[in-house]
Amino acid sequence: MVRSLTKRLLLTRLPGPCIAPLLVSGLLLLLLLPACTGQKKQAAYTIGFSQCIESDAWRRTMLEGMKKELAFHPGVQFIYRQANGNSQQQEAQVKELLQKHIDLLIISPNEAAPLTPVVEEAFRKGIPVIVVDRKIATPLYTAYVGGDNYEIGKMAGQYAVNLLNGKGKIIEITGLPKSSPAIERRQGFADAIKNYPGLQIIRQVNGEWLQQTAQQELAKIAPQYPDVNLVFAHNDMMSLGTYEVYKNSGLTKPYIIGVDGLPATGMKFVAGKMTTATMLYPTGGEEAIRIAMKILNKENVAKENLLQTTVIDSTNVRIMQLQAAKTASQQQQIERQQSMLKEQQRIYNNQRTLVYILVLSLILSLILGGLAFYSLRENRKISKKLQAQNQEILDHQAQLVAMSEKAKAANEAKVNFFTNISHEFRTPLTLILGPMEELLANSKNSYHTNQTLGLIQKNVIRLLRLVNQLMDFRKIEVDKMKLRAAETDLITFTAEIIQSYKSIAQKRNIDLRLITKERQLLVWMDITMLDKVIFNLLSNAFKFTKDNGYVHIYISKNEPGSQAIMKIEDNGVGMSKDAIDHAFDVFYQGEYENYKGSGLGLALSKELIGLHKGTITVSSEKWKGTRFEISLPLGNAHLEKDEMTESVQESSQAVLYEHEKIYTADLKTETSIKTETEESPAEKTHTVLIIEDNADLRQFLVNKLSGQYEILEADNGQYALQQAFDYVPDLIICDVVIPGKDGMALTHIFKNDVRTSHIPVVLLTAKTAMEQQIEGMKNRADAYITKPFNVLLLQQTIKSLLDNRARLKEHFTGELPTGLKTQTISKPDRKFINEFSALVESNLSNEDFTVETICKHIGISRVQLYRKVKALLNVNVNDYILNTRLQKAKYFLKNEDTPIGEIASKTGFSSSAYFSSVFKTKVGITPKEYREK
Ligand code: FRU
Repeated sequence: MVRSLTKRLLLTRLPGPCIAPLLVSGLLLLLLLPACTGQKKQAAYTIGFSQCIESDAWRRTMLEGMKKELAFHPGVQFIYRQANGNSQQQEAQVKELLQKHIDLLIISPNEAAPLTPVVEEAFRKGIPVIVVDRKIATPLYTAYVGGDNYEIGKMAGQYAVNLLNGKGKIIEITGLPKSSPAIERRQGFADAIKNYPGLQIIRQVNGEWLQQTAQQELAKIAPQYPDVNLVFAHNDMMSLGTYEVYKNSGLTKPYIIGVDGLPATGMKFVAGKMTTATMLYPTGGEEAIRIAMKILNKENVAKENLLQTTVIDSTNVRIMQLQAAKTASQQQQIERQQSMLKEQQRIYNNQRTLVYILVLSLILSLILGGLAFYSLRENRKISKKLQAQNQEILDHQAQLVAMSEKAKAANEAKVNFFTNISHEFRTPLTLILGPMEELLANSKNSYHTNQTLGLIQKNVIRLLRLVNQLMDFRKIEVDKMKLRAAETDLITFTAEIIQSYKSIAQKRNIDLRLITKERQLLVWMDITMLDKVIFNLLSNAFKFTKDNGYVHIYISKNEPGSQAIMKIEDNGVGMSKDAIDHAFDVFYQGEYENYKGSGLGLALSKELIGLHKGTITVSSEKWKGTRFEISLPLGNAHLEKDEMTESVQESSQAVLYEHEKIYTADLKTETSIKTETEESPAEKTHTVLIIEDNADLRQFLVNKLSGQYEILEADNGQYALQQAFDYVPDLIICDVVIPGKDGMALTHIFKNDVRTSHIPVVLLTAKTAMEQQIEGMKNRADAYITKPFNVLLLQQTIKSLLDNRARLKEHFTGELPTGLKTQTISKPDRKFINEFSALVESNLSNEDFTVETICKHIGISRVQLYRKVKALLNVNVNDYILNTRLQKAKYFLKNEDTPIGEIASKTGFSSSAYFSSVFKTKVGITPKEYREK
């Protein structure tokens, strides 16, 4: 980890600012080093050379000269083409060179005219052209290099004059007649001898510059001219041909003059006395390349570059040969030195490369060394940091361990306290229960006393059950609940438990049955545990099964006979999907109709069955029923030795009795005991609707209030609404948490419905939170009493709310001509009057309020309304409305400082003048006087 961290650090910190410059400078150094050696690299040029022919020594010498010179310019690419003395071929070759994008063209044209166009084309394209030896018929070239052929012809002519003393016959063997050297040499020669009439060119022969042609052509005519004195051949090769003609012909050998003067040809012929003389005609190869380089390097060059010439004959041939030999040896020396230089260069290059590599290695080593040092430093820093972090983590860890130990100890203490307290609860609860049973057994008790004592007993038992279950849980949690299984007959055992439910089943007409094919089914079980499970399941079944339903218990063996299966099935209210999913979760309280479990019973059952290595599952369908299925392994192979006991516990009967009491207490309802006869309706002037889902609490309230009031009951929101609208009670007591619609929602509906809006609502709840109270008041509840409540306070609250109501009503209707006594009229009529008066009261400020509005709201016709009101209240509907308005106005005038105009509009009069006049008519004085009075 550290290494990868370091790597990342190096990568993120070094490259940009640090490594890159080092590498770049190293590379730059490498690139710059060659330049520092002084070896100037030439730009790469391509020179194309078009040669007319290469078969003779002179041409070869020219090419060698060029190559020698080119050796000094290694960057130059040299493309060479020769045309075998064919002008067309040469033209094509020049074109090919031009296509190769040469930078400069050197040409020695075979003949002037045929090659002129292609030279002009090159020149026009901007390619410099150097013409060597033979000329071209255009001024469009860059430079000419070569001997002065006219001068050579003239020199030869003057030599002939001297040789023949101005008298004699001459045969001239020319080169190609259209090539410039042939033309110029002939011209020079002619000009030199023209002043010597004794000298005659008796014949001209076209030797085409070639030895063979010259020899053939001369041989043909030589016999015709036996007295010829001199033959002037335009080059040495043709002079050799001449020599050959005369050598074996028997003819007198004339003087022979040639041109070129190369050591290997002309000089040799003169020295060997084969020819008389030769005119030195330099090839100009070296010069052509030198001039070409100057042109390419953009230096100025002369257009015409004529080379020096001289006569070589028997008088100087020796010296010339020596000179040539000397030159050749010097050339060889140069070449040797050049090759040595090359070798040195090669060695130097190798050494230089070596130095580069060394320098580069050095730079790289420095960089890597730097990096290594840097990374070492970073590594140290990081590892120090990591060590610190590690230490910090270890410290934290130690702290956490200490804290968790403390927490564990605290939790342990808490749980122990909880267990001890739970245990402590049992004693007082048992001590309450004993005397309670004694009190209940007293036959002198009144019905009410027995009912109250029964309620206390039932709840003490419920508490006892919860405490027991909590303690069992704790035991399982700390592994202290040990199985003490003995082989017991499951059938008899279950039948005994079922017996406890027989009377309840009978009372509620529930079909309770044990269905089995087995006569006996021995199961290794701990009966103190298993009876809790079965009692719990049966109690649940009874709780959720309506009267006239069924609870069936099936006992069987599974297919291979390895398990005992018990199914407890009912056709009760069933469970929702969510309730099924969480049925066995601790403290999960399913939303059952009118009943909320503790969330302990089923969770504990599952644990207890688990201790038996068995399973318990549930399947249920809402409104159809529920089935619990328990599987218990048969035999005792699944049990540890210490989980088994020899005999069935002796105290089993006592345990069974205790469990029966604990689990069936809830199911024993007193509702059937309630008798209508105890009521004394004549004294009851008000009806109170009690909305409470807890049956016991509801019953308790009924008992406490039924003496003074006529009571209506509802255990859920929907039914409560129905009761309220059907009977329009005088007061409603409503629990906040009830199934269906909650108390807040119900209060909101009551207070916003014209039929019930006038009814005082007392909200009853265990919640003491201020927000709840505020919300209750927002919904216009009239009182809010929190559980546990004092019955006297509740009774007093109800009484004062009803008195206030009556006073207000009295106040509003006090002056109405009615002898109505609410208690003397029937419930539906009272409902009607309540609805009618509430409607009027809530519309006092509405000036558009008419009789039609009332009919529409109550759902009766106009006639019905008039009749009913007349019958019940002995008053005309309009008078009633008007009087109610006036009563309210009087109330405002008496008790409030509200301006009269505002009172008029608050009581539904369109103007204060109209209000005053009506008031005066009905009351006898004006509103103002009434207020003052
Ligand atoms: C070689 C040659 C030379 C002569 C020159 C004239 O091909 O015939 O002997 O001097 O060409 O162009």
